[in-house]
Amino acid sequence: MAPPFQRHVFVCTNRRAEGHPKGCCASKGAEAIKDKLKAETKLRGLKGAVRVGSAGCLDTCEHGVSIVVYGSKEPQGGTWYARVSLEDVPAIIDEHLVGGRPVERLLMPTAPAAPAPAPKPEP
Ligand code: FES
Repeated sequence: MAPPFQRHVFVCTNRRAEGHPKGCCASKGAEAIKDKLKAETKLRGLKGAVRVGSAGCLDTCEHGVSIVVYGSKEPQGGTWYARVSLEDVPAIIDEHLVGGRPVERLLMPTAPAAPAPAPKPEP
């Protein structure tokens, strides 16, 4: 059975070829941001409550580095962050992952629509 994480942080680490019109989060430092989030959550004893991982393209490339946080403590559709930099990691951890309040200044201006609920299985 999967661990009961309260929050699952997905950092887009998608990489595209240099010069691609959409750009990519990898070229904006996504791997270092993910690594710092992982290290800091571990240091602060959040392992078990918060899981940090990589995601492929979140389809919000123009806002990269893009991050989405899902979990039982998050709104349906998750909390989306835009243009995250390495310097923003402490705020995301302190204010959101520990304090429970999303970092307003980093919220994505137009969060992607919440995914449709999963269909119910046939009886
Ligand atoms: S490359 Fe990161 S959201 Fe598309």
